Amino acid sequence: MNSKGFFITFEGIDGCGKTTQLELADNFLTASGRETLVIREPGSTPLSERIRDILLDNSLSVNPVSELMLYIAARAELVNNAIIPAIAAGKVVLCDRFYDSTTAYQGYGRGIDVTLISQLHRLTVGSHSPDLTFLIDVDYETSLSRRKLTADRLESESEEFFGKVRDGFVKIAEAEPERVVVIDGGKTIESIFAEVRHWLETRLKI
Ligand SMILES: Nc1ncnc2c1ncn2[C@@H]1O[C@H](COP(=O)(O)OP(=O)(O)OP(=O)(O)O)[C@@H](O)[C@H]1O
Ligand SMILES: [Mg+2]
Repeated sequence: MNSKGFFITFEGIDGCGKTTQLELADNFLTASGRETLVIREPGSTPLSERIRDILLDNSLSVNPVSELMLYIAARAELVNNAIIPAIAAGKVVLCDRFYDSTTAYQGYGRGIDVTLISQLHRLTVGSHSPDLTFLIDVDYETSLSRRKLTADRLESESEEFFGKVRDGFVKIAEAEPERVVVIDGGKTIESIFAEVRHWLETRLKI
C-alpha cells in the first residue's frame, strides 16, 4: 500500500488516558490497513530509553534546566532515528507524549521561558511537527484517581503544579487549533475513542 506518512501525538497530564486511547487508535488504524509505529516519550530508542530511566528515577533530584535538556536530547534521538524514517516509509506514527509535554511541564509547570523552549523544539523537531495532536483534558482529581499506586518522580508533584501544566496544555491547544484537538477526558473510554476515531477518519480519509 502506498500510504502517506502521518504523525499523531497524545498529550495530557498523568493518568488522563493517553496510552489507553493510543492503543485503541493503533488497533483501529491497523484494522483499517495502515502500518503504524507506536512510540513513547521519553524513550523508544536505545539512548532515549536510558534517558527515560534517569528522568523517572524517584531517587534522583534533577535541576529543571538539566531536566529540560534531557527531554530535548531524548527527543532529538527519537525524531531522527524513529519518526522521520517511519513517516518516509508511509507509516502512521503514534507517539505517547511529545513536545507539548515539554512546553506544558517544563515551561508552564516549572516556569522555564516558553519562547526558549519553542526554539528548542525548532532545533530538535524542525519541520517534523505532529500532523494531529489529541489533548485529553482532565482535572486533577480524575488524574489522581486513574494513576498507578506507586508514583514516579514526576507523578509525585503537587496539585498546584499539575494545575499549571493542565492550563499550559490548554494554552498550547488554543494557539494551534488546527493541530490540537481537545477532548474532555472525564467521559468514558468509549466515548472519548468515538471522538478520536472521528478525527482519524477525517484527517486520514479512512
Ligand atoms: N476515560 C476513562 N475513564 C475511566 N478510566 C479510564 C479512562 N481512560 C483511561 N482510564 C484508566 O485510567 C488509567 C490510566 O490510563 P492511561 O494509562 O491510559 O493514562 P495515561 O495518560 O497513559 O497515564 P500516564 O501519564 O501515567 O502514562 C488506566 O487504568 C485506564 O484504564
Ligand atoms: Mg501512559
